Amino acid sequence: MSGFKVFAVAGATGKVGKAIVDELLRVQPELGLEVRIITRKEGGNAVKDTEELEKRGAKVYPVDYDQKPTVVQALKGVDCLISCFGATGFGLQPLLVKTAAIAKVKLYVSSHWGAPMDEYRYGLTHMKIKDEPMRLAQEVFHLPWALFRVGIFPEFAIKFPLTELNLHTRKAVIYGTGETPNSWTTIPDTARYAVYVLTHLPLSQLKNREFNIEGDRKTFTEVVKEYVGKYPGEFQVTYKPVEVLEEMVKKSEGKDFFHALMIEYATGRVAHDPAKLDNKEFPEWNPKKVVDTL
Ligand SMILES: NC(=O)c1ccc[n+]([C@@H]2O[C@H](COP(=O)([O-])OP(=O)(O)OC[C@H]3O[C@@H](n4cnc5c(N)ncnc54)[C@H](OP(=O)(O)O)[C@@H]3O)[C@@H](O)[C@H]2O)c1
Repeated sequence: MSGFKVFAVAGATGKVGKAIVDELLRVQPELGLEVRIITRKEGGNAVKDTEELEKRGAKVYPVDYDQKPTVVQALKGVDCLISCFGATGFGLQPLLVKTAAIAKVKLYVSSHWGAPMDEYRYGLTHMKIKDEPMRLAQEVFHLPWALFRVGIFPEFAIKFPLTELNLHTRKAVIYGTGETPNSWTTIPDTARYAVYVLTHLPLSQLKNREFNIEGDRKTFTEVVKEYVGKYPGEFQVTYKPVEVLEEMVKKSEGKDFFHALMIEYATGRVAHDPAKLDNKEFPEWNPKKVVDTL
């Protein structure tokens, strides 16, 4: 057991943050947890939801990220800080690391929750911003960190209009050949796994660790087949070759982040090495399959 009793979540109203808070509150009575929500004093979404969140058992801490002491104060006594910031908050993560170190937080969980990519190609070099908190935590502040690499969220990515899968219109565009597998994990399964290991593993097994998890492993062709199997009828598939995506990224001079990411999806670079999966750390984990979300 980590022995962690006091958790703080920053970015608690986003897709991942909400699921993490829901899971922490679900196990709160059994494990006797304190759940704090760190949110922007001005414009923070959780501020508006304070009454409802506090009724459910959380404590809301509005902070001003420009005023470091307000963040340190909110983190005093916290065992584990979980960052669920979305892209617009990534630049604030070094501040989270610094304030967590000052407040003597025992473990900082960085906002990754994404693809297991070890190198950044095309226009994705700015994703290095996701790595900076770990460097800072380890090299400068000696603050233990952890992160979770989960592959693609099916319930988000498949319905995201830009992805062009459009399954419900029965006319999907598949990027690349559709034959390379990717790792997929639903958002609630991600939250269940993360909260389980953060409360059940000792700090020595959490410290400076990337957790690689996968709820399902599927190609885009298999996803479409599963959809048609579930909802039979005519279905049209067209393909957008990787070269077309590369041309789009090239023309944008690296600014077309979305299609750069889609090249990685299309070429199977969002797939874990099956030999390096950490699913076993939560033996009872029974994640949903992509088909369950369709
Ligand atoms: N694997 C996948 O398929 C996938 C898909 C989407 C996202 N992700 C990853 O999941 C993680 C979380 O993303 P998300 O989409 O859940 O996040 P999100 O919904 O964009 O935002 C999460 C929270 O971050 C805080 N925030 C946003 N902008 C901020 C700013 N400028 N300053 C301070 N706080 C700010 C907000 O909290 P308050 O309002 O309470 O302050 C917000 O509720 C990211 O690392 C993202 O890359 C993965």
